[in-house]
Amino acid sequence: MKTLEEYKTLLWHKYLQSGNREILHRYLHSLAVVKKSEELIDRFSLPVDREKTLIAAALHDYAKFEKEERFLGLARKHGVYDEIIKISPKTWHALLGPFVLAEELGVDDPVIAGAVRWHTTGSLEMDLTAEIVFLADFIDDTRLEDYVKEAREAARHDFRKAIALKIKKKMKDLNDYSREQIDLYNKYAEVKWNY
Ligand SMILES: [Fe+2]
Ligand SMILES: [Fe+2]
Repeated sequence: MKTLEEYKTLLWHKYLQSGNREILHRYLHSLAVVKKSEELIDRFSLPVDREKTLIAAALHDYAKFEKEERFLGLARKHGVYDEIIKISPKTWHALLGPFVLAEELGVDDPVIAGAVRWHTTGSLEMDLTAEIVFLADFIDDTRLEDYVKEAREAARHDFRKAIALKIKKKMKDLNDYSREQIDLYNKYAEVKWNY
């Protein structure tokens, strides 16, 4: 595995190739997610592999500008096409991101793959590294929206509550109050949601 700094450079080169106008904003977001992850690890003394977690933070949006055909090709190749086609293309860069990382950078570490895979949707399967990246992606310093403030404030003293707030926001946005989403919310929230 390479170093965090090397992966940051590889991320920038990957973005440059896409020719997308959003790359600078997205690159700065990725760096801010690294910084926020570092803050969370230190603030709550979280027992994770620090370098690995920060690499996962740096690479979480690596597949952000991938073309739809590439995603569909990867989904077919890895036998998840039927699953992927049913869900929002906005989540593909996360769910299929680990396949892109393995193919292009040889990054196939399961902890990094899990954090990348679940950074948008969240999952009951998230480990501590995935939880850190999931939350840092929501409250990093480049996000100025009002709805982030409550979670950012919570993240100063209550790691799990802040995660619950991101899940709640997603449920509201997607109007998804399925049993699975409620279970995920309840895993982190102190006050449980009734079915
Ligand atoms: Fe993302
Ligand atoms: Fe992100």
